[in-house]
Amino acid sequence: MVLNLQFTVNGKPWSLDCEPADTLAEVLRNRLNLNGTKVSCEVEVCGACTVLVDNLPVSACTYLAYEARGKNLLTVEGLEKADGTLHPIQQAFIDEFAFQCGYCTPGMIMAAKSLLDENPKPTRDEIIHHMDGNICRCTGYVPIVAAVERAADMMSKESKK
Ligand code: FES
Ligand code: FES
Repeated sequence: MVLNLQFTVNGKPWSLDCEPADTLAEVLRNRLNLNGTKVSCEVEVCGACTVLVDNLPVSACTYLAYEARGKNLLTVEGLEKADGTLHPIQQAFIDEFAFQCGYCTPGMIMAAKSLLDENPKPTRDEIIHHMDGNICRCTGYVPIVAAVERAADMMSKESKK
C-alpha cells in the first residue's frame, strides 16, 4: 500500500508517496536529502534522530512518516537563517566546543530547541533532566549543558533587542 504524505518541513511544503512502515528518519534522510538528522540506535533510546513535529520533539527513527501528515516539522537544517547566520543554539554548541565526533549534535540541538521554546531560562537541573533522552557516546556532557545555558542567554538577549 502506498500512502500520500503531505507535510511542511523547515517551512517548505512537500507531497510524496511513502510506505506505511517508512519511518520519518528514512523519509527525511533518503527522500528529502535532509541527512542532518542522524540515526544511531534506531530504537528510540539515543535521541540522535530528534526532530520537532508541531514543536514537540520526536524520535524520527521510530516515528512513522505517515503520522506526520499535515504537520509542521523542523529539522536541524531549518535552524539557520536564510543569510546563513547560525541559530544561537548552533552557535553556542560551537562556542562551548559541545561536540567531539558530532554525531549526537543535531539531536542535542533539536532537544535544546524544544526545551528553550518552552522554558527560556532553564536551571542546570532542568537542562540535564530535559536532555537525558539524548546520549553522547563521546560523553562530553559538561560542555553540552554549558552550551544550552549559553544559548538561553543568547536567545534572551536577542529577544530584548
Ligand atoms: S536513532 Fe532514534 S533514538 Fe536513537
Ligand atoms: S559528540 Fe560524539 S556522540 Fe556526542
